[in-house]
Amino acid sequence: MDKVKVTIVGASGYTGGELIRLLLFHPYAEIKQVTSESWVGKFVYKAHPNLRKNTELKFSSINELEKCDLLFLCLPHGSGMKKINELKKLAPKIIDLSADFRLNDPALYQKWYKSEHTNVELMKDFIYGIPELHREEMKTANFISSAGCNATASILGLYPLVKNNLIDPKNITIEVKVGSSEGGNKSSDASHHPERSGAVRSYQPTGHRHTAEILQELNFGEELNVNLSATSIDMIRGVLATIHVFLNDNLEEKDIWKVYRKEYGNEPFIRIVKEREGNYRYPEPKLLIATNYCDIGFKKDEFSNRLVVISSIDNLMKGAAGQALQAFNIMHGFEERTGLEFPGLHPI
Ligand SMILES: NC(=O)c1ccc[n+]([C@@H]2O[C@H](COP(=O)([O-])OP(=O)(O)OC[C@H]3O[C@@H](n4cnc5c(N)ncnc54)[C@H](OP(=O)(O)O)[C@@H]3O)[C@@H](O)[C@H]2O)c1
Repeated sequence: MDKVKVTIVGASGYTGGELIRLLLFHPYAEIKQVTSESWVGKFVYKAHPNLRKNTELKFSSINELEKCDLLFLCLPHGSGMKKINELKKLAPKIIDLSADFRLNDPALYQKWYKSEHTNVELMKDFIYGIPELHREEMKTANFISSAGCNATASILGLYPLVKNNLIDPKNITIEVKVGSSEGGNKSSDASHHPERSGAVRSYQPTGHRHTAEILQELNFGEELNVNLSATSIDMIRGVLATIHVFLNDNLEEKDIWKVYRKEYGNEPFIRIVKEREGNYRYPEPKLLIATNYCDIGFKKDEFSNRLVVISSIDNLMKGAAGQALQAFNIMHGFEERTGLEFPGLHPI
């Protein structure tokens, strides 16, 4: 079988580096080119030292790109929507990891991103990239937009409950704790080590843009009210979403189990994590480092109808590169776990 020739645009960054790491070991994919404007002509391992002795690829400029079978776009927000009309001429398929094409309603985009989308015609051509929700559409898709990392953890935690009408849709509160790699590889005042190290920093108590994706993807007819807050903590990779919802009926935990099992029992990358004892009774981001799993647990409040759902991922994997590769596998009819089998480390 001919390998699928892929190019990664914006490959010197964190999500691009993660895609290179995964694709180098994918049996049915071949990396044709990788781009960076600041590392043109330099070996990939200069930007991604973990890849020493694994590749002799060098970075090209975006202006040197040749035709290929599929482009992964790992560009900063807003950059892809400007360049995509040109990039589209290079490959019949695109998987975009940025937020540019996640929403299909320009008004929703305007509301949450506080600016006009500059490529509205293409918005509807993209399939939202969470395989657990859009697997069938992905099989024939040419354009996929990977979901936001915080949105992924939140949506996967909530999906079975909202879909099955088990909770009050007007009262959903999500607190996400996030690691520093969410911000990409460019440093800033906020990421300077004395400022960032040890932080427990409430950086987005309201108005988090990923709320828009959550509203879009969990729209089963009833209007939702989602209160999303984000806190940066002293962690490099990882998202932990703690989700507070209120059950419509007096369900027991075993009933909730059944619903999660019904929706996710056959999902290769979702694990229900809810143990009676031990350190790892509930999902914990550090166990997920470099894996494509989303771990989901829950606990019902003994004194009320509140249910707390805990959902965790590695933001660079299930929240970005891993999710994109899972979509790539589905698009091409490859076994979904291909290149994504790594089970993580313990201890770590
Ligand atoms: N980090 C995460 O956890 C995460 C998760 C989900 C989605 N995302 C999204 O994925 C995208 C990439 O994120 P990241 O964390 O990988 O960012 P990053 O580490 O900042 O990398 C950005 C990449 O884009 C390139 N680039 C920047 N400006 C460019 C321009 N004008 N023209 C061409 N190339 C340019 C950079 O290359 P040079 O500067 O070397 O030229 C670099 O390779 C973002 O849209 C982000 O929102 C990130």
